[in-house]
Amino acid sequence: MVRGQSITGAVLAAALPVSAFTYQAANPRSYSAKQFSQEFNDGFSVLKHYGGNGPWSQGVSYGIERDTPTGCAVDQVIMIHRHGERYPDPGPRSDMLTSLDKIYSSNITEFRGGLTFLNTWTSYLSDYCLSGQESFSGAYAGLLSTHTHGTEYRARYRNLWDGKSIVPIFTSGYERVIESARSFGEGFFAYNYSTNAAINIISESETQGANSLTPTCDKDKDQKTCGDLTNLMPQFYVAAARLNSQNPGLDINATDVYNLMQMAAFELNVRPFSDWINAFTLDEWVAYGYTQDLQYYYCSGPGDTNMNAVGAVYVNASLTLLSEGPSSGTIFFNFAHDTNITPIIGLLGHFNPVEDLPLDSIPFPNPWSTGNIVPQSGHFTIERLTCNATTTAPAGVHVRLIVNEAVIPFQTNQSGPGYSCPLDVYMSTLRKDMPDYIKTCDVPKTYPQYLDFWWKYNTTTSLNFQDGPIPCADSTTTI
Ligand SMILES: *[C@@H]1O[C@H](CO)[C@@H](O)[C@H](O)[C@H]1NC(C)=O
Ligand SMILES: *[C@@H]1O[C@H](CO)[C@@H](O)[C@H](O)[C@H]1NC(C)=O
Ligand SMILES: *[C@@H]1O[C@H](CO)[C@@H](O)[C@H](O)[C@H]1NC(C)=O
Ligand SMILES: *[C@@H]1O[C@H](CO)[C@@H](O)[C@H](O)[C@H]1NC(C)=O
Ligand SMILES: *[C@@H]1O[C@H](CO)[C@@H](O)[C@H](O)[C@H]1NC(C)=O
Ligand SMILES: *[C@@H]1O[C@H](CO)[C@@H](O)[C@H](O)[C@H]1NC(C)=O
Ligand SMILES: *[C@@H]1O[C@H](CO)[C@@H](O)[C@H](O)[C@H]1NC(C)=O
Repeated sequence: MVRGQSITGAVLAAALPVSAFTYQAANPRSYSAKQFSQEFNDGFSVLKHYGGNGPWSQGVSYGIERDTPTGCAVDQVIMIHRHGERYPDPGPRSDMLTSLDKIYSSNITEFRGGLTFLNTWTSYLSDYCLSGQESFSGAYAGLLSTHTHGTEYRARYRNLWDGKSIVPIFTSGYERVIESARSFGEGFFAYNYSTNAAINIISESETQGANSLTPTCDKDKDQKTCGDLTNLMPQFYVAAARLNSQNPGLDINATDVYNLMQMAAFELNVRPFSDWINAFTLDEWVAYGYTQDLQYYYCSGPGDTNMNAVGAVYVNASLTLLSEGPSSGTIFFNFAHDTNITPIIGLLGHFNPVEDLPLDSIPFPNPWSTGNIVPQSGHFTIERLTCNATTTAPAGVHVRLIVNEAVIPFQTNQSGPGYSCPLDVYMSTLRKDMPDYIKTCDVPKTYPQYLDFWWKYNTTTSLNFQDGPIPCADSTTTI
């Protein structure tokens, strides 16, 4: 439980003069210092209620320690990471500006109530070319968080790199995703990034078929719930009425509230503080978050049965890697989008609700909380563990699943150390019901029929750095 000690040390370091800290550090079992915090507070955070639009936060944990269980060693890690925190895409940006314009064109000279901050606030959306790009300033900046995640994974998985091999890093061919992969790679490899990481860009084109980090499913176009969900939420009407009544002359509606909440979540990606967050109540944030949960659930998750087959591309290939073990490679870092991760998570089932999410009420608790699953910089990690015998489990190979650094027990069997699942049980469980991507999604025979870039990658470092300025607005794939 080193984590508890180091937090205590940091708190003491901040509070005490250097000489006192030296004394405390020499005697960590003082009467006043607590090894473990007794606070869990209420567990509420707005960071869990904006779906995939705002900064990363750690996954809600089940009380399972993140560090490798005693007696086990990780011998292979397979991760898929969403791009880092970013500016809004051109479409949502334009909606945000429309709603802002409505507010400013009301000619109110002094904003009041929940909008008082608007008397001094300035927009962060002025530069169109930054639309969709990674953010780079403030505590939640995307290029900072991906870099930080790289350094954390270096600390955690340092033994998986032999210090000399060239290690591929896989990224789908979208500007912000590529930049995230590079930034993570620089965090992980540090001085060795330019020589020992090899960025492999996997095209997002559908002609990649199953050999892709972003497999598509054409059969998927007509989900009725994938449209505009703003009108479903009475909370947005209440918020509009409140802000209008506080500011005579203002005439925003529920759609504007949705756009402004979206703008608030994104503001945190760019700035360390968003006054817009406080313009809305916690109930309104929960409602906003639920609109996002519905979108992911029905459009890119388990509410759309075809999506299990999409998730199967990655899950099936990862089973092959896990069964081959470290002889096929120890480090597999992959970068793509939120909607490429939710089908994988949906197939594995851990967060799936017992019944389809309702459109006329907000369930509580709602396990399919996308602010907890795919915040910006969200990631899903599979660890292959080789373990010695413990009092409860024989020696063997196990698997642990980790979502945003919270260990997720695999439903079928958690009999291994640290609630891990025996590899053979994990494989047979998933192989039994594995949906067929090629059949389900009518993938043409001329396209690749399974994922094999993990075995056939390039070791060239020529794509490790951006050559020249990034393209204006991230609307097109790069390769
Ligand atoms: C497993 O046991 C062996 C023999 O005692 C020991 O050398 C090794 O370090 C152990 N592995 C782990 C991961 O603890
Ligand atoms: C705000 O002022 C502008 C310029 O005077 C005017 O054209 C516009 O109609 C006013 N808007 C409202 C809502 O009064
Ligand atoms: C990694 O970087 C360090 C520091 O620059 C250097 O000493 C070492 O030789 C590098 N390793 C390789 C394989 O290039
Ligand atoms: C809100 O107003 C915009 C026009 O500014 C309109 O397009 C939208 O449909 C309205 N939303 C609602 C819920 O009435
Ligand atoms: C699963 O992966 C293996 C090898 O990685 C491949 O041969 C097989 O075709 C894949 N199956 C499906 C259904 O994708
Ligand atoms: C989990 O798998 C192990 C190894 O196959 C087995 O011994 C154990 O009984 C299983 N536990 C459950 C709850 O199925
Ligand atoms: C490796 O490079 C070749 C030649 O540029 C390219 O055709 C292939 O798609 C690359 N493979 C990967 C996995 O990036």
